Amino acid sequence: MIVALLNQKGGVGKTTLALHLAGEWSRLGKRVLLIDADPQASALDWSEQRSHQGFDRLFGVVGLARDTLHRETAELARSVDHIVIDGPPRVAGLMRSALLAADLVLIPVQPSPLDGWASAEMLSLLREARIFRPELAARFVLNRCGPRSVLARETSASLADQDPPLLPSMIGQRVAFAEAMQNGRLAFELEETSHAAREIAWLAADVDETAR
Ligand SMILES: Nc1ncnc2c1ncn2[C@@H]1O[C@H](COP(=O)(O)OP(=O)(O)OP(=O)(O)O)[C@@H](O)[C@H]1O
Ligand SMILES: [Mg+2]
Repeated sequence: MIVALLNQKGGVGKTTLALHLAGEWSRLGKRVLLIDADPQASALDWSEQRSHQGFDRLFGVVGLARDTLHRETAELARSVDHIVIDGPPRVAGLMRSALLAADLVLIPVQPSPLDGWASAEMLSLLREARIFRPELAARFVLNRCGPRSVLARETSASLADQDPPLLPSMIGQRVAFAEAMQNGRLAFELEETSHAAREIAWLAADVDETAR
C-alpha cells in the first residue's frame, strides 16, 4: 500500500506521523520505504541523525521531492510491502504528484477551529486528483489532541460528516513524539508501552483496516 501524509498547512504532524507509521509497520515485520517528498528533508534529517547515533535502521528513507514522484513510486512499490510518503507544505506540484502516487491520503489536522479552513486548499487538490483517480481513498487524522480536550471533540464533530471522513484513532499531544523526532528515534523505542506508542499502533491498525 502507498500512503501519503499530506496537508498544505505546515507543522500539522505530517513528518511525525509518516515516520511513526513506517516504524510501526517495520516493527510488525513489513518491508517499508519512506519517501521524503519535502524539499526541507526533515525525514531524511531524522534518518541521518539516527545513523550517526548508531541506532538500527528500521526502514529506508529516500528523498524524492520531484514532480515525477508518482512515476518513480510505482517502480519502488514493487520491492516493498508499504510506501509512506511524507508530503511537503505548500508546494502544489509535489502535492499533485503525491496524490497521483497514493492509494490512501492521510490529512493530519490539529484540533483547532481554524484548521478546517486551512485544509480547504488541500481538499480542492484532492477533488482534482479524484477526477483522474476516483478510487483514491482519504482520511483526516486528528493529531496533537489535549487530554479531555473540548476542542478535539468539537473538531472531530465538525469533521464527522465530511468527506474525507475522520479516522477513529486520534493522536495526543505528547512529549514522546517531539523527543523522538529530535533524537532520531521513535516513540515506541523510548517506551514501548507509552500512550504515544499505543496511539501509533492504533493508527496503523486503522490504516490497515481502511485499505481492506
Ligand atoms: N502528537 C504530537 N505531540 C507532540 N508534538 C508533536 C506532535 N505531532 C507533531 N509534533 C511536533 O510538532 C512539530 C511539527 O511536526 P511535524 O514536523 O511532524 O509537522 P509537519 O506537518 O511535517 O511540518 P512541515 O509542514 O513543516 O513539514 C514538530 O516539532 C513535532 O515534534
Ligand atoms: Mg514535515
